[in-house]
Amino acid sequence: MPAQSHGRYSAAQITLHWLIAALVLFQLVFGESMEEFIEAREEGEALSSTDALLGTLHYWIGLAILALVAVRLVLRLRSGAAPVVAETNPWLEIAAKAVHWAFYVLLLGVPVIGLLAYYYDEPFAEIHALAKPAFISLIVIHAGAALLHQFWLRDGLLTSMLRPGNHT
Ligand code: HEM
Ligand code: HEM
Repeated sequence: MPAQSHGRYSAAQITLHWLIAALVLFQLVFGESMEEFIEAREEGEALSSTDALLGTLHYWIGLAILALVAVRLVLRLRSGAAPVVAETNPWLEIAAKAVHWAFYVLLLGVPVIGLLAYYYDEPFAEIHALAKPAFISLIVIHAGAALLHQFWLRDGLLTSMLRPGNHT
């Protein structure tokens, strides 16, 4: 019987995980509208109403991510994370931790640099644009590993991010 990992994360942590993932996805898919927004502002050109709306949403959703991640980080640091699923390879465990903390660095750093890009433009805009490849690489590794655990190793890891435990 493989180790079961349910109960590692609270309902609040799980809700925040999926809500933040959905909001980040939105930022990645529609980020270019913000570029159009900035370009139109600089060149004094007209902006399509779609880009105006998506640009404004980019601003506020980005700040919402920052606030939600701050809450999430507090919960995470308070409750810790018992390693319920034992990795057979210690290097894989280190890799998983590195990916999780790299996510937190991006989730906090990207919106802050986005704010600087919005108000001061270069060089922050160029740095902020790196968010796209950085997030996509981490998401591919992270989601790939989660699916591998769930459907190949069958250790219930994904279930731990779907079914809450009883701590906060
Ligand atoms: C986690 C949150 C965020 C993500 C994942 C994100 C992602 C992106 C992406 C993918 C682009 C387009 C870059 C490209 O296509 O090359 C972009 C552009 C931009 N974002 Fe964000 N963003 C976030 C938060 C923010 C916030 C909070 C602000 C400002 C309040 C902001 C301001 C901007 C600006 C000004 C641009 C245009 C940069 C340029 O002129 O090239 N972003 N963002
Ligand atoms: C933008 C997208 C995503 C971000 C930013 C993200 C971020 C994170 C972070 C930071 C953790 C560490 C746990 C914590 O400290 O709260 C985590 C755990 C987890 N995530 Fe994601 N995630 C994303 C997408 C996904 C997807 C698409 C899946 C599933 C296919 C997934 C499945 C999991 C699982 C199963 C865990 C628990 C891992 C463990 O306890 O070792 N995540 N995620």
